[in-house]
Amino acid sequence: MRDFILAANWKLNKTPSEASQFFRDFSEKLEDRLSLPPTAGGESRDIRGFGEGPNGGRRRIVFFVPALLVATSEQVVKGTGLEIGGQNIWVETKGAFTGENSSDVLNAMGAAWALVGHSERRSIFGETDKHTAQKMKTALTSGLSAMLCVGETLAEREAGETLKVVFRQLEEGLSLIGDVIAKDPSRVAIAYEPVWAIGTGKVATPEQASEVHQALRKRLAEFLGKSQAGAGGADSGTTVASEIALLYGGSVKPDNAKALGSKPDIDGFLVGGASLEPDSFLGLF
Ligand code: PGA
Repeated sequence: MRDFILAANWKLNKTPSEASQFFRDFSEKLEDRLSLPPTAGGESRDIRGFGEGPNGGRRRIVFFVPALLVATSEQVVKGTGLEIGGQNIWVETKGAFTGENSSDVLNAMGAAWALVGHSERRSIFGETDKHTAQKMKTALTSGLSAMLCVGETLAEREAGETLKVVFRQLEEGLSLIGDVIAKDPSRVAIAYEPVWAIGTGKVATPEQASEVHQALRKRLAEFLGKSQAGAGGADSGTTVASEIALLYGGSVKPDNAKALGSKPDIDGFLVGGASLEPDSFLGLF
């Protein structure tokens, strides 16, 4: 019973007023889509009941907004069931780390998630596998859920190294949190995002994505079976792995989401460009 998660990655976009406007429009359109009658006082409503995911878990909608927009976003979505996350945290929660974001503060502001290891963090800001491991642990310790991004570059794919790269990123990224995963796998999600598909309009085919997702889930089961998460051995590793949502990301758009989402191992999307307008994001449902 794993969740199906639609996650928006706004990257460095939107002002506070644009974010507020987006959430007002989005909630209204989502309610229309769900055919919910308007509330008497026009107040926001919990729209979490917008459906069960294909694998029996909840359908969830998460917005990874810039840190400076977390407070505004949280204020507008409060009570709607939409979840807010930060796009980056530091490995420590306080201290002499000029310019960084604390996961404790994100949590105190009402955010529910942290995004870790996005390819832009890795390639532009030098985030290493060691950082992702520590950040996943810090996020969970602060009470947040954490989404780990993995994905190969075009050169790595062409060299036949896709699985080697994503397995390494997966195992390193989860290396410090086996115990937390065992207790509550729904606090962790993995996003497979081939770097060559991010922001390029070049989407992985459903078959390409599904092949990697299946391999990732199998490797996840083996890895968890050996770690604390699978204290009961290989079987419990498989059970825990089956509870973790594996999202696809990279040029997901309304015209390709349906085919990708029809693959049983694809448990949602992490979406950049198409998440910036309510209509295109809703078009993925
Ligand atoms: P994209 O971005 O949907 O614009 O390709 C995805 C991401 O970077 O998470």
